[in-house]
Amino acid sequence: MTFRLTRALPPDDTAAALRADVLHGLTRTPKTLPPKWLYDAHGSELFEQITQLPTYPVWRAELGLLRLHARDIGEQTKARSLIELGSGSSSEKTRLLLDALPGLHTYVPVDVSESALRQAGQTLLIERPALSVHALIADFTAALTLPQTPGPRLVAFLGSTIGNLLPAERATFLTSVRALLAPGDALLLGTDLVKDESVLVAAYDDALTAKFDKNVLAVINRELGADFDPDAFAHVALWDAGHEWIEMRLRSLTEQTVKIPALGLAVDFADGEDLRTEISAKFRVQGVRRELAAAGLTLEHVWTSPGQGYGLALAAPSRAGTRTEHATSGSTGLQAKGLPS
Ligand code: SAH
Ligand code: TRP
Repeated sequence: MTFRLTRALPPDDTAAALRADVLHGLTRTPKTLPPKWLYDAHGSELFEQITQLPTYPVWRAELGLLRLHARDIGEQTKARSLIELGSGSSSEKTRLLLDALPGLHTYVPVDVSESALRQAGQTLLIERPALSVHALIADFTAALTLPQTPGPRLVAFLGSTIGNLLPAERATFLTSVRALLAPGDALLLGTDLVKDESVLVAAYDDALTAKFDKNVLAVINRELGADFDPDAFAHVALWDAGHEWIEMRLRSLTEQTVKIPALGLAVDFADGEDLRTEISAKFRVQGVRRELAAAGLTLEHVWTSPGQGYGLALAAPSRAGTRTEHATSGSTGLQAKGLPS
């Protein structure tokens, strides 16, 4: 097998983007931070532990669906390239997809976490000697240049990571994914579905998730020299019934000022003030269909887990309408050209 790793972010982009996000997010009301900064090497490791918690059904439900239906997905898509966005460590779920695609030529894992991509590469090197892997360190919410690989392409976006984007961000993201797809290509999208509030909250309200959430403070301390005291914040998980999303916040346990030397910034927190670190939106099948359609994608099939707790959707570029086709797409962020495979 061949393993290549391409950094699609400029070397200093990560630091510059973190500075910009922290400056923007901590000087506004309410305070927020984008979720991608949770996933340094330690954060990626903590997330893997979260996936195994009995209270966190998302990962298990999706694994169950892939065990049952990966073969159907393989037969329907006949993909020769599998592009996985936010692939993390390319876990067992990814392996099920790889196994179900006999004609697969190249696997392209895309993640901001270099450590996760390297770990995935090492494992695949041993387990799949025939597979060509071209890993991409990239931000899937920004312009992305994919290697040229043979079609049909299957773009997989699992783990309900789409739920960590705000509705407007989701619309932009899906439009960009649509621009990557040629006729015959497909998108496989995992979405956690609306269910009982107590089950939803329990999935995000435990000591390990609190540690994961607070890891973003450690990242800012390390990268920007800040003096956040993680113990001076409490992890809070709330169900927002209006928006149908879980909101994760770090609540200041006292009135405090945090210094961020790299930004020349001092940030005041009132006692009880919240910093929003992440949302995790929950979906309904009709809503998924609508959001896909708005981006020029047609929901072709949806598999749901027993109890309807999780949905795995397969979508294809819509035929009708005025959406740009593959060859002429280029204006909407993700671009399907450029890097050699
Ligand atoms: N797909 C895996 C991992 C999900 S966790 C699973 O289903 O288990 C979300 C993953 O997305 C993490 O690996 C994180 O590093 C990555 N990620 C988060 N935001 C990202 C972004 N903006 N661009 C690229 N990767 C991102
Ligand atoms: N996509 C996952 C989800 O929303 C990510 C996730 C799981 C997560 N647990 C978390 C993100 C805790 C932040 C905090 O379910």
